[in-house]
Amino acid sequence: MIKIAILASGSGSNAENIIKYFSDDKNIEISYVLSNKKDAFVLERAKKLGIKSQVFTNKEMKEDTLFLDLLKREADFIVLAGFLLKVPGHIIAAFPNKIINIHPALLPKYGGKGMYGMNVHKAVKQNKESETGITIHFVNENYDEGAIIYQAKTKITTDDTPDDIAKKVHQLEYQHFPRVIKKTVEL
Ligand code: GRF
Repeated sequence: MIKIAILASGSGSNAENIIKYFSDDKNIEISYVLSNKKDAFVLERAKKLGIKSQVFTNKEMKEDTLFLDLLKREADFIVLAGFLLKVPGHIIAAFPNKIINIHPALLPKYGGKGMYGMNVHKAVKQNKESETGITIHFVNENYDEGAIIYQAKTKITTDDTPDDIAKKVHQLEYQHFPRVIKKTVEL
């Protein structure tokens, strides 16, 4: 079995979608949901879906070997699904090209520090873009700069609000993220 740990800080709708997608996969299992936020809704979703979960503080993730030990024991790959903390260097070093992130825009546009969640969609709207999309990429030491695995686009109309844009992007995420994860980890 290829084991995947999901790291998430928020609602976790992508995490839930991924867990359901792999629920009867013969080759891949979601082994853990890990969060840096003790009240993240993703933890409720994990519980409901019968996936083990654990919370680590930002400090524990950065400094403790316990977090790295758990990952080494429980995961072959790490998937970031709305994980807002920068992945510490020692974790990246231990999982080279084995950490996959999804970014809700077409990188290299709208990436980097501060570009997360609604900030991204508001900036896209402000710049009157006619399209946006998702970028699935490997994680390296710099925000949003690892090798791109896959991108998908969606059109934006002039009357789309940032919320409408967010909805369109989420649809793309649900549609593509699980299957791109499968393809990537089975390579
Ligand atoms: C997604 O839009 C993802 O691209 C970004 O954070 C959001 C997480 O949403 N990295 P959810 O928690 O999966 O609903």
